[in-house]
Amino acid sequence: MPKDENFLKANNARHLWHPMAHPADMKANPPAIITGGKGVRITDVDGHEVVDGVGGLWNVNLGYSCEPVKAAIAAQLDRLPYYSIFRGTSNDAVIELSEELKDFFAPDGLTRAFYTSGGGDSVETALRLARQYHKIRGEAGRTKFLSLKKGYHGTHFGGASVNGNANFRTAYEPMLPGCFHIPAPFPYRNPFNETDPAKLAQLCLAALEDEIAFQGAGTIAAFIMEPILGAGGVIPPHASFMPGVAEICKRNGILLIADEVITAFGRTGAWSGSRLWGVKPDFMCTAKAITNGYFPFGAVMIAEGVVEVFEKDTTGKAAIGHGYTYSGHPVGAAAAIACLAETKRLNVVENAAARGAQLWAGINALKAKYPLIGDVRGGHGLMLALEMVADRSTKAAPDKALPGKVQTVAYQAGAMVRVSGANIILSPPLVLTAADAQIILDALDAGFAAL
Ligand SMILES: Cc1ncc(COP(=O)(O)O)c(C=O)c1O
Repeated sequence: MPKDENFLKANNARHLWHPMAHPADMKANPPAIITGGKGVRITDVDGHEVVDGVGGLWNVNLGYSCEPVKAAIAAQLDRLPYYSIFRGTSNDAVIELSEELKDFFAPDGLTRAFYTSGGGDSVETALRLARQYHKIRGEAGRTKFLSLKKGYHGTHFGGASVNGNANFRTAYEPMLPGCFHIPAPFPYRNPFNETDPAKLAQLCLAALEDEIAFQGAGTIAAFIMEPILGAGGVIPPHASFMPGVAEICKRNGILLIADEVITAFGRTGAWSGSRLWGVKPDFMCTAKAITNGYFPFGAVMIAEGVVEVFEKDTTGKAAIGHGYTYSGHPVGAAAAIACLAETKRLNVVENAAARGAQLWAGINALKAKYPLIGDVRGGHGLMLALEMVADRSTKAAPDKALPGKVQTVAYQAGAMVRVSGANIILSPPLVLTAADAQIILDALDAGFAAL
């Protein structure tokens, strides 16, 4: 039996440290205690029910009542709750899932899966296999990584080293050597003072070319980017940007890693972010929605060109000295098989695009109404953000308390939204209805009206 409400409130944030929070702040301002989830709604310990505008953490794409995934997890727990897939053993679920993933990602040119326990593990895997690829080919000097400022790639040391946000780096420095960043194609804030997205994309691509020339192409293993930057504040690049990156990488022998931990499986209104931009990456990192968030699991998908180099190696250099105890966890794999089937059956890309358009129009209307909203970003499915400013002309940061106040009032008014610095981020389940999308917009309206 769950503990009672008094016990939970008395012990909230007392004996645990929360990720991405100050322990003392969590004690002073205890977090909401979520005790239930149904459809696209969550319920807290006081029985207050709201539409989840956050979708768990960009991962509960099919909502909280996805029975096929729950049933698959329960059945797999009964049949085989765990076995390792380290050299020498496999299981039925991972084999079936690899077949499904190969078909799902065939349009992206990705034919092999390497299983992980989450997004950070997927990033780490891609970075490590990228270095190994070059070593197998006799280019051992290609060890560096390039990435975008404002990018987010998790908090393992490799991922944090390619991250482009000081919040996840400074306290943990020194980072991995050999990681370099170029400006993000972010029209609202960039060092070029360029507001035109197409021109800005060209400037950022020129910066990439410049950095490659400076480092020496022969020293660089891979470039990693999110097709749409998520945690950095939802930054969709101009359509020319990722294809431009892919072309530059190819010309310089640099592998392209698409970090699709958020964007894979439909969130952008396309089945993958790479497909949205017409790019075929060398590696694609996936996790989160692969199990609808119900089980920690991920897969790095690998392109045919990389596959050939590894699988045709006869020197032994392609032996993979990498993996996790929970790589290929049968329960995660079973969850993913069911989740993929349900994702396709519901054709969630269509609804993601339609509801995304509705929320995009809605937050633009809020921007027109409230001067404290400096910028709104979205337009590609169900990942959107509102950036608050103290003053539109200076774009100065708002009073620190204000985004939290919007969130609190929105929560009281019926929707959970996420605050990240000055940004309010929306990433609801892809099965959101039009009426629920309107509830999120009305709740935000109430939040801004209360300031
Ligand atoms: C693009 C991206 N990469 C990697 C990660 C890290 O994933 P995890 O938190 O599962 O390690 C995230 C998490 O939000 C992400 O958004």
